[in-house]
Amino acid sequence: MFHTPIAPRVRKRSRPAEAGAPRREGVKFEDVRLYLVERKMGCSRRSFLTQLARSKGFIVEDILSDVVTHIVSEDTQASSLWTWLKGCELKNLPSVHVLDISWFTDSMREGRPVAVETRHLIQDILPTFPGGPTATVSQYACQRRTTTENNNKIFTEAFEVLAESYEFNEIEGPCLAFRRAGSVLKSLTFEVRSLGDTQDLPCLGEHTKELIEEILRHGRSFEVEKILSDERYQTLKLFTSVFGVGPKTAEKWYRRGLRSFSDVLTEPSIQLNRMQQTGFLHYEDISRAVSKAEARALGNIIDEAVHAITLDAVIALTGGFRRGKEFGHDVDFIVTTPEPGRERSLLPDVTDRLEQQGILLYCDYQASTFDMSKLPCHRFEAMDHFAKCFLILRLEASKVEGGLNSTEEDSRGWRAVRVDLVSPPMDRYAFALLGWTGSRQFERDLRRFARLERRMLLDNHILYDKTKKEFLAATTEKDIFAHLGLEYIEPWQRNA
Ligand code: UTP
Ligand code: MN
Repeated sequence: MFHTPIAPRVRKRSRPAEAGAPRREGVKFEDVRLYLVERKMGCSRRSFLTQLARSKGFIVEDILSDVVTHIVSEDTQASSLWTWLKGCELKNLPSVHVLDISWFTDSMREGRPVAVETRHLIQDILPTFPGGPTATVSQYACQRRTTTENNNKIFTEAFEVLAESYEFNEIEGPCLAFRRAGSVLKSLTFEVRSLGDTQDLPCLGEHTKELIEEILRHGRSFEVEKILSDERYQTLKLFTSVFGVGPKTAEKWYRRGLRSFSDVLTEPSIQLNRMQQTGFLHYEDISRAVSKAEARALGNIIDEAVHAITLDAVIALTGGFRRGKEFGHDVDFIVTTPEPGRERSLLPDVTDRLEQQGILLYCDYQASTFDMSKLPCHRFEAMDHFAKCFLILRLEASKVEGGLNSTEEDSRGWRAVRVDLVSPPMDRYAFALLGWTGSRQFERDLRRFARLERRMLLDNHILYDKTKKEFLAATTEKDIFAHLGLEYIEPWQRNA
């Protein structure tokens, strides 16, 4: 696609120090070394611009090598440029400026290399290499590092209320927009103190900016408070907080005039399914956050149960706790084995054992529907096809270091906890781990990035290159990031 320029016939320069020596007007800027990408620019324009820059005292390298500091391209299609750059195997690529032609023309006009600004950057190239001198905030969560420390809670909590309210009304666009905006603010290492602080940030629209301004001025938002006091919002929020009750059911109950749990439980015409019955039965416990110590205790229990069944099992903590969260709504584990096909029947064996131990309070098992020959699937589905089970386990206080996470002294000495187990085949392990580690927003943007920037399809099962028409193999999460041309983001930096 790109033509690697052929070295000039006359002399082959091996040492960069010589590079500028024979130029007519002498080199003025020793520490800036340009390279002009021929693609889109064309051969003759490239040589014209090279002459121009050299006449102004710039060093222009004919060959792209590690001495180059500024790469200038007229091709602003980030994905193809990136693929080519990656193929060049530069050691210092992360520190090189990858710029569009505007930086070049500005520099020519000024007669000196101008400072690199955001507008000069080829979008989505630089954020791939954060740490560059003018790192910008990427529109993709998978190119941002987001820890559990949120410096802008006051804004992100307000955005989440709006997003939720749109979600209840099935208005998808604005819902997603508020989630994206919230996610950008979560990634900031500083607290937004004025609207000016948000100037160069992506994904912040008119509505979000108005909200930020209002909160900055009054410490709260009228719009958010209106939603919070709205009866429909309150009721839907209450109903969906029950395990097994989704927005559809909540809406149905609301329409029938039900407003409280006792309304629902005393309404004779309502038939609760098994999941909802369990949800109401253990409501107090399940709606209380799970602590890290409780997650660790559950890890021991799952470990013990799985290893009693098969010794070569692989068990990994995933979900929010893998991202370093202090509290979660459940605990997620990947459970598998290197023995091909065995993963399909592993979970029923595990839950049988938990039942024998008398700690299985609820089990919703979903058998595997995974079929590699039906992939790639072009339409994203929320659920993956691996065998999985949604459980409620009885956790004894004595198993938890420092005791249970309860408000008052709980005389029962145990609590109910939600646990999810998923069991992918071993060769799908990395994809499942990446998918289940989350956060949801991080996953959404990984898939969006893959699709839009790399022409690839990513889900919990596969990574598929649409250009090459092939599946890309991965044994670790790092392999997947590398295939996508993304800097590796640690699990604790994925709290987008
Ligand atoms: P969770 O809903 O458990 O979220 O899903 P979480 O990030 O751990 O947060 P809390 O603390 O429990 O509330 C974990 C990840 O697993 C993915 C979700 O998209 C999320 O990123 N997931 C969940 C799937 O990919 N498939 C599923 O069937 C369920
Ligand atoms: Mn979870």
